[in-house]
Amino acid sequence: MKATARAHTNIALIKYWGKRNESLILPANSNLSVTLDGFSTETTVHFQEGLKKDSFRLNEQNVEGDALGKVAVFLDKVRALSGKEIYAQVQSVNHVPTAAGFASSASGLAALAAASSKAIGLSLDDTELSRLARQGSGSASRSIFGGFVEWQMGEREDGSDSFAVQIADKSHWDIRIAAVVLSKTEKKVSSREGMRRTVETSPFYAGWLEQTAKDLQEIKQAIKVKDFEKMGSVAEANCMRMHATTLGANPPFTYWQDTTMRVMQTVQSLREQGIPAFFTIDAGPNVKVLYLPEDEDKLKKQLQATEGVEDIIISKPGSGISYR
Ligand code: DP6
Repeated sequence: MKATARAHTNIALIKYWGKRNESLILPANSNLSVTLDGFSTETTVHFQEGLKKDSFRLNEQNVEGDALGKVAVFLDKVRALSGKEIYAQVQSVNHVPTAAGFASSASGLAALAAASSKAIGLSLDDTELSRLARQGSGSASRSIFGGFVEWQMGEREDGSDSFAVQIADKSHWDIRIAAVVLSKTEKKVSSREGMRRTVETSPFYAGWLEQTAKDLQEIKQAIKVKDFEKMGSVAEANCMRMHATTLGANPPFTYWQDTTMRVMQTVQSLREQGIPAFFTIDAGPNVKVLYLPEDEDKLKKQLQATEGVEDIIISKPGSGISYR
């Protein structure tokens, strides 16, 4: 009763921002991401008779507290599905280039869903796996698949039609995503808390929801016909609107830091020089930049010269879940 799975993280081009059901993790809007080949989590789950509780080792260190709690709550769902009352040892390694501060719940929960369901003897297809991973962390539903992925919000109360589907595989389009590592980062508001506060208190949230459905249709068309300018500009605008909702929350907050804005300005200046580059930002200060392979040298140079930038990690569209 042991299995190992690897999942890559993803970056949303159309953000998931707000839930319509907190406990089942059902989103208020459909959303879309690219799976990144540069960041992954590999997880081994070993269910064993005789264990009195679950344990969790991350990057060779024992983990207790909230992080263990999150794993155990997720394994409870897997146990409920299988009807087996048995605990597990979980070991995870985040393959994130050194000290980048990019550990992600998307790759973590996707790998945990895949390894635990296999280890306990459930044979789930990718759709069922996406639905399961979603209940650990919403964005993890998308990391089951490679390439360009849409998480369809669904309509049903029980969440059975809320899962991710692949829009195009990783070979569809040779784009690049640069993850810009900042020298100092602090995430004060988790994405879970941030989206909850925004939904409950921000008057801008309704505007976000209305526009994001249109953004999704536009970006799907842009991906289909490989219109890079279109895809990038829709993704950047969608990111700006998501972050705008946080300024209207009570109490208001932002994930941006001074360096976040400097990187955004570098990207705008690259565009003024005729280089198609577009940024997007999740629930933290780090910036990801979309660009085409031929512009890599110029782009890296100018990002690296931006004050407060420590490193740049380049990804291509990556693959979905794999087992070892
Ligand atoms: C801003 O998937 O981390 O990155 O479902 O509460 O675990 P929970 O949230 P999470 O939220 C990700 C939010 C985001 C946008 C996105 O990835 O779509």
